[in-house]
Amino acid sequence: MDDSSDARAEGPRLDRLVERHRQFLEERFPFWGRSQANALARQVDDGSLTIRPWTARDERAIGVAWVQTADGGLRVHGLWTEPTGPGPVTELLADLPRERAGTVQVVTDVLPGFDAEAQEDHFAGLGYWHRAKVLMRRSPDAARIAPPRSPRIRPIAPTDLLAVTRVYAAAYADRPGEFWAWAVPSAAQEAERDLRRHLGPTGGWSDSFLADASQVWDDAGTVRGAVLLVRGGRGHPWIDDLIVEPAFHRQGIGRALLEAAIARVTSQGPETLDLAAIRFGAPYRLYRRLEFEEVPPPECRLDGHWVRGPTPF
Ligand SMILES: CC(C)(COP(=O)(O)OP(=O)(O)OC[C@H]1O[C@@H](n2cnc3c(N)ncnc32)[C@H](O)[C@@H]1OP(=O)(O)O)[C@@H](O)C(=O)NCCC(=O)NCCS
Repeated sequence: MDDSSDARAEGPRLDRLVERHRQFLEERFPFWGRSQANALARQVDDGSLTIRPWTARDERAIGVAWVQTADGGLRVHGLWTEPTGPGPVTELLADLPRERAGTVQVVTDVLPGFDAEAQEDHFAGLGYWHRAKVLMRRSPDAARIAPPRSPRIRPIAPTDLLAVTRVYAAAYADRPGEFWAWAVPSAAQEAERDLRRHLGPTGGWSDSFLADASQVWDDAGTVRGAVLLVRGGRGHPWIDDLIVEPAFHRQGIGRALLEAAIARVTSQGPETLDLAAIRFGAPYRLYRRLEFEEVPPPECRLDGHWVRGPTPF
């Protein structure tokens, strides 16, 4: 298939699909949909993602995928078909790897028009596994947590942001695609852009950032870890991220930072805390230990990625 002639022929329809994809992300994922959509657009601008138009052989269906070449395969960051549903999606996906030797590694986002159960069956049948991203909540009834005594924990300052960026990029570096927005060559810049949204126009914190609760692990002047909290869409504090530099993992730093944040947030009384996590691995285990529980659907609508490749569990 010749991408360029398709793109010309379908230009306005493709633009509309891309716009609908943006709206979908913003509506469906109120916590990070907008930044995800913006990052997609930036990545198209800087050439690290291509929009791959596709037209079904019967000419009734059309789709777009945001595609990146990665590790000998393709990574699909967003997908939208018209009409929505299993048929066009299957065809679009089946069409992608044919043009290269590699496989499609990641398909991001829940697919519009596709309920979660149908997706599960559909993608399992195509050989994908689901890296589920779940909403987790710590109830106000959970146990009180005393603030850790470590002198290395202190509230974050705006001047820490660059150091935190470095920890961010390092913390996710060994898992390209884990945090899809950074699956780009310029991970550090992408991380910095992402973190800068916590700053207000005059260099202080933005209104939604919970600076008192957000903490860093300061090792003799060098930041090695951080926990960042914002006021979430449901009004509860939202743990936006918890990161520790890889060389310092398994030393209790992540847990101490999280405990410090919980202690701070609950210091005036019981409080609900929310976060989004991948349903496996170190962070998930840590959250469970500190009494975060998965929030069931329909409220939990963070669905994660479909991946074709080896599973990490
Ligand atoms: C999650 C993260 C912050 C944990 O930091 P850490 O300082 O290594 O965590 P701790 O040493 O305090 O360990 C706390 C608990 O996490 C779990 N854990 C941490 N590393 C683990 C690993 N490699 N394997 C299994 N469990 C692990 C354990 O339950 C551990 O408790 P335990 O040591 O009593 O068994 C760190 O792994 C990280 O930065 N990961 C990348 C970024 C990320 O995914 N952040 C979460 C976003 S939702």
